[in-house]
Amino acid sequence: MTKIFAHRGSAGTHPENTMIAFYEAERVEADGIELDVQMTKDGALVVIHDETIDRTTDGTGWVKDFIYKELQQFNAVYKFAEQYDFCRIPLLEEVLQWIEPTELLLNIELKNGLIEYKKLEEKVIDMVRHYHLEHRVVLSSFNHNSMALCHRLAPEIETAILYMKSLCQPWKYMRAIGASGLHPYHGTVTESFVRQAHDHRVAVRPFTINKAGLMKKMFQYQVDAIFTDYPSKAKQLLNNQKTT
Ligand code: G3P
Ligand code: CA
Repeated sequence: MTKIFAHRGSAGTHPENTMIAFYEAERVEADGIELDVQMTKDGALVVIHDETIDRTTDGTGWVKDFIYKELQQFNAVYKFAEQYDFCRIPLLEEVLQWIEPTELLLNIELKNGLIEYKKLEEKVIDMVRHYHLEHRVVLSSFNHNSMALCHRLAPEIETAILYMKSLCQPWKYMRAIGASGLHPYHGTVTESFVRQAHDHRVAVRPFTINKAGLMKKMFQYQVDAIFTDYPSKAKQLLNNQKTT
């Protein structure tokens, strides 16, 4: 059965990558959440998609140029200002603390494609281990060197590669990296590709699946999971399929 990961929380209905969006994912019984991690000037791991705070907060500037105490002053309510007064940029640690007693799965995307954050991999892994979440976490990144490093540092934690364009037999490449999950742009995914990936014991979790028609197609392809900004809608569709 395809699992539903709430992308950046429930980003279609709540301020992305905030605790409110993560609580919503749990409320609608998503199987897991996806979030993005960047690092502040004082080495704090923060949950925010972009390298800058311009798009999703009321501030401007690079995440790497703020200490966390400064960063937490900004309002990450984004386009949901009418529904919510103030949402803080969360620390990764807050999310791990909250998720630990739940049954949710967690995909931590390391946002180190543009900026090489010093010791990002080590810090994320230490924190995952501290909360004993090794077997509920998948680490992913568009930076495949970073995923190879994560696998060397923590072979017990699943790693996955993110990519936008179609790859030829990626399972061969993945073996070199030690990754076992493929997180492709949905446009590259076909039914036969999913079948081949499964033959090679590789999980396929495409992003970002927001339209009902596309959700149905991915369910039919039997992908392992989808990332969606609308986990409630995806759950409903999946439940309907089960009963018909
Ligand atoms: O992990 C899937 C997806 O989140 C990757 O793209 O840009 O939404 O982080 P993006
Ligand atoms: Ca992401």
